[in-house]
Amino acid sequence: MSTQDEHTQKAPADDAGDVAEGKESGGFIILSFFIGLVAMLVVGWVLLPYALYAKKSQPFDFNHALHVEETGDCESCHFFREDGTYAGVPTLEQCVDCHEDVLGESEDEAIFVEQYVQQGREVPWLIYSRQPDCVFFSHAAHVIKAQMDCIECHGHIGESTSLKPYEYNRLTGVSRDIWGKNIAGFKKHSWDRMKMDDCADCHAEKGVAPSSVQTGKDACFVCHK
Ligand code: HEC
Ligand code: HEC
Ligand code: HEC
Ligand code: HEC
Ligand code: HEC
Repeated sequence: MSTQDEHTQKAPADDAGDVAEGKESGGFIILSFFIGLVAMLVVGWVLLPYALYAKKSQPFDFNHALHVEETGDCESCHFFREDGTYAGVPTLEQCVDCHEDVLGESEDEAIFVEQYVQQGREVPWLIYSRQPDCVFFSHAAHVIKAQMDCIECHGHIGESTSLKPYEYNRLTGVSRDIWGKNIAGFKKHSWDRMKMDDCADCHAEKGVAPSSVQTGKDACFVCHK
């Protein structure tokens, strides 16, 4: 009798305990979910880019603003050759007239003159906008025919006072500028990234035939070799 009493008396107390425990573990599950979510966001948005991208420095720094003031334009270093091909990044030939000897006090200039100019060695510049080898790109089509500004694709490098570090994808070796800074894929400026879709979107918008990567029969060979 006494045991049964104990039992009947205990049961409600137990139920109450279960309900309280149920609420607590519900709260715990929700809390765990949010901790897990935040942890995955940190991994995905902060740690993954660290793991995926490595940095390299340019051989020495280069001040565009200073040089554009000295030369007066971009074309003395970035020009079209007579056959219409683009010279791209300048060679020593575009520098030696001024830098045969060290002009100033800067350490970057000293490295440039002593290690490259005086030894006749070309500077191994790292190209931020370099596309994978399978891509065909023509500056003449964009700059001469379509009259586009450098800034639309490259941003404000021409006005900068120093070069940013070069970042590349450890798996593919491709420059980070192709896939962009923002790992979630948001794009604020036209120059934020230059993936296949970015080329194709502009081509579609400006009516460059064939206008869609998906539909044009020869579409692939507009941009691929
Ligand atoms: C005195 C020579 C000189 C002049 C003038 C000059 N540049 Fe450059 N530019 C360079 C050198 C050297 C580099 C190589 C740095 C590098 O690897 O990006 C470079 C790189 C660049 C790049 C980056 C290419 C890449 O993807 O790495 C852009 C864009 C560029 N210049 C635009 C301009 C524009 C726009 C102007 C005119 C407003 C200009 N430059 C004037 C020498 C010059
Ligand atoms: C029209 C003349 C002229 C040409 C062409 C020229 N430079 Fe210069 N450069 C200067 C002057 C002037 C300075 C400033 C020197 C000082 O007082 O420190 C300078 C400074 C520099 C410096 C140190 C400051 C900085 O940019 O970080 C570097 C490095 C340099 N030049 C590299 C180059 C390279 C590479 C080229 C060829 C692509 C080049 N220069 C072409 C005139 C020129
Ligand atoms: C429609 C977009 C677009 C425009 C406009 C454009 N570029 Fe480029 N640029 C590119 C792409 C894409 C590459 C990479 C090409 C490759 O890897 O084959 C590049 C590469 C370069 C390079 C490095 C090339 C090398 O191989 O050494 C320089 C320097 C450069 N551009 C300067 C300029 C300048 C200066 C202007 C303005 C006169 C300009 N670009 C306009 C898209 C553009
Ligand atoms: C902001 C706009 C824009 C972007 C970005 C752009 N293009 Fe273009 N592209 C054009 C325009 C406009 C033309 C047409 C030029 C003309 O013939 O009048 C063109 C023409 C071309 C041509 C020549 C096509 C032909 O049939 O003559 C090639 C190749 C090309 N683009 C490749 C690329 C690649 C590769 C990229 C990306 C790395 C790219 N473009 C990014 C606007 C763009
Ligand atoms: C408007 C220019 C353009 C057109 C048209 C285009 N591509 Fe691309 N494609 C690119 C650029 C730029 C890249 C490099 C950047 C990237 O990976 O997004 C690329 C990359 C690729 C890659 C990855 C290669 C690598 O080494 O990473 C494949 C595969 C590819 N394209 C297939 C195609 C096929 C198939 C078509 C036709 C249906 C096509 N592309 C049409 C510009 C273009």
